[in-house]
Amino acid sequence: MTRAREPIVVVGGGIAGLATALSLAPWPVRLLCRTHDGSDTASVLAQGGIAAAIDDADSPAAHALDTLAAGAQHNDQLRVHWLCQQAPEAIDWLQTQGVVFDRDARGQLHLGREGGHQVARIVHVGGDASGAGIMAVLRQRVQQATHIQYRGDVEVDALLLRGSTVEGVRIRDRRERAHEIGASAVVLATGGIGALFARTSNPPGADGNGLALGLCAGAQIRDIEFVQFHPTALCVAESGCLPLITEALRGAGARLQDHSGRPLMTGLHPQEDLAPRDIVARQVWDAHRREGAAWLDARELKRGWERYFPTVMAACLAHGIDPRTQRMPVTAASHFHMGGLAVDLDGQTSVNGLYAVGEVACNGVHGANRLASNSLLEGVLCGRRLGVLLADRGAQNMTPKTGGGRYRWVTRGNSLPAELMADLRSTLWRAAGPVRDAAGLQQASQACAQWAEQGWQARLASDLLAAARSRAHSLGSHYRADALIGGEFR
Ligand code: SIN
Repeated sequence: MTRAREPIVVVGGGIAGLATALSLAPWPVRLLCRTHDGSDTASVLAQGGIAAAIDDADSPAAHALDTLAAGAQHNDQLRVHWLCQQAPEAIDWLQTQGVVFDRDARGQLHLGREGGHQVARIVHVGGDASGAGIMAVLRQRVQQATHIQYRGDVEVDALLLRGSTVEGVRIRDRRERAHEIGASAVVLATGGIGALFARTSNPPGADGNGLALGLCAGAQIRDIEFVQFHPTALCVAESGCLPLITEALRGAGARLQDHSGRPLMTGLHPQEDLAPRDIVARQVWDAHRREGAAWLDARELKRGWERYFPTVMAACLAHGIDPRTQRMPVTAASHFHMGGLAVDLDGQTSVNGLYAVGEVACNGVHGANRLASNSLLEGVLCGRRLGVLLADRGAQNMTPKTGGGRYRWVTRGNSLPAELMADLRSTLWRAAGPVRDAAGLQQASQACAQWAEQGWQARLASDLLAAARSRAHSLGSHYRADALIGGEFR
């Protein structure tokens, strides 16, 4: 329920946050972001585009089947069907906002193929610069929107509850000054937790802040052990945000190889290099364990680099690698969190007045492993659905059922000091990366328990490790090397 007069606070400037804020019109919105221009989001870095059954030979049902197969059937089926059915509408809405998708020679939307998709159904903007292209347009829309008041360079570190209803947030500006903002509802759109792992394709802001805030307000979480690892980040450093090498490059013919040039995926899955991500990521992880390296060979790709893969090309060249003539060193990297704050399709968490949308939320559409190019899609569709819903409730003057109660702040608490953050990231990468086992998870849990008093990130990591320990079998992206499968350890 929304309380009349006060703004709706949207925390996070990724695609889900912007779609929510725009769709809330004319209800007043305070949009809060950690960087001055909201650029520190995984949406901006997204290379893959948006999956939608647009081609005459394709159908939402086929898109749903692929989504369910990638998700290891752990998905909420009805919600998957809704997502896939609505996908073409998301493309229409983005075009209405001014997004210009790539077209083929016949003037039709150009459709690419990525891992887990049986057919080509991914639309892109500027080739592999999809996220940047879409976000630039939506950010412009936000700047023009009179109902949105934008505030950057702030971090939300506490939620205000009245009784059991969220009624506001506390922000800290760059000078650590605290400000309080009352809200008729709070929407967390803060992204995922990729930056808690040593190797990631995510920006530093993807550190689980929104998840930690929801937890301290008592919100229920779901499936938080399911973290997707992308098979191909450019392996140019031991840790940090690594440049992504889009899966679309494998869709266009690039192949994974071991150090001696032997194909990594042959015979392991019918879709080989385009098998679902968790399967490919484990092979890349394993090649690193055995030989200290894995490679992506795209030298056969003679044309189209500038048009379809300008981002990959620029990242490689910046690191002294010419992908037209050299193999690219690749590593698996944390990429997407399927788990999060448990919500229904309307983004309602288990706490009154608190909503979550996009990667911070878990509504069950992605199951145990997200299908490629379904995340921007979810951000747009669920953001729009939530924005329209809350605006409608506001227009009907629906008042909150708070039942009153006393006001109290729930706070996330201190951040881990930088040196412990580095230890935490390495610990999670080793123990809760693409391959997990009981001993590693237990050791990591002990380490995080020691750090728990010193920072919220360690408490969040402990929750993730506990969930991973209690799921003793492998499912989707959660792979337990110590699980017995069909009478054998695999
Ligand atoms: C990619 O381009 O490989 C990533 C796409 C996605 O994460 O959906």
